[in-house]
Amino acid sequence: MASQAQHPHLPLPDYFSKFASNYVRQTGNSTLNILADVITENVQTSAHPVRPDSVVHDTAAGPGIGAAALVACLPKDQLPKEMLVSDNVAMMVSAARESLVASPLPHVDCKELDSQDLSSVPNNYFTHSINNFSIFTFVRPADAVRETYRTLRLGGLAVVTCWRRFAPMFIVHAAQKKIRPDLPLMPTPSPEFYEEGVLQKVVEESGFAKDNITMIDKVLLVADDENIAGLTMLISGPMIIKAREGYTEEEEARWVESVRQSVKEEVEQFGGIRFEAYVLLATK
Ligand SMILES: C[S@@+](CC[C@H](N)C(=O)[O-])C[C@H]1O[C@@H](n2cnc3c(N)ncnc32)[C@H](O)[C@@H]1O
Repeated sequence: MASQAQHPHLPLPDYFSKFASNYVRQTGNSTLNILADVITENVQTSAHPVRPDSVVHDTAAGPGIGAAALVACLPKDQLPKEMLVSDNVAMMVSAARESLVASPLPHVDCKELDSQDLSSVPNNYFTHSINNFSIFTFVRPADAVRETYRTLRLGGLAVVTCWRRFAPMFIVHAAQKKIRPDLPLMPTPSPEFYEEGVLQKVVEESGFAKDNITMIDKVLLVADDENIAGLTMLISGPMIIKAREGYTEEEEARWVESVRQSVKEEVEQFGGIRFEAYVLLATK
């Protein structure tokens, strides 16, 4: 049975159910593009590349981002023989199933599972485990890492990513400050994960040996119009309604313009919308 408990600092009840249908567009492909870069630059060049005999889990996968990244990066005849795509939100699992229906992956299962309790999965099962930009949304992140460790084979590779700079939150805060600087800024779930060292510490304390962990930093500049438009839509729209708590109707009406201006300032400052990520690779 999948746990439905969501992190208390997500902006809406059922946040990820509401996000499922437009997730890829409204993340500006950021999680997909960073993971694709990690697979190409770091996983496939490591001693543990994904190969045709691999068995891969993408946990807290959203609408199948790990599978999409593998398909984007690997030639068809190098795709893993088996893939489990799981998430604890039914709408995300359905979106993953739909997006992967015609995928060239030889065998992919999409299942509703709680990353923090994978008791239906045997020990030592996967050769690779992906946990992409989800750890800060877990109520019990250490339990999720313990489950990743338990279900990974000896010599298997885990990829865990989290944000160092989650650009949309900076834009939300800039837009809030333009309208009601006196009100509290919208909270972010588990902000400690943005701090250097926290991801490694959680992973080390949850089973992986320090010597088997490698950290890499990644930067993604989102500069194309389509992805900027998707991110702007996310920040302007109902998913971020919490940022407007306490607003009058007149203040609400200024939100879209304030976001547009804040996006413009971000792009002027960095040459695009700037995401920074911590990437952790760990072997068992
Ligand atoms: C920010 S999204 C990341 C999705 C995807 N991995 C990606 O790369 O874009 C976080 C995901 O974690 C899922 N999630 C949160 N808590 C979970 C849990 N306890 N078990 C499984 N999935 C969970 C959410 O439903 C959501 O799909």
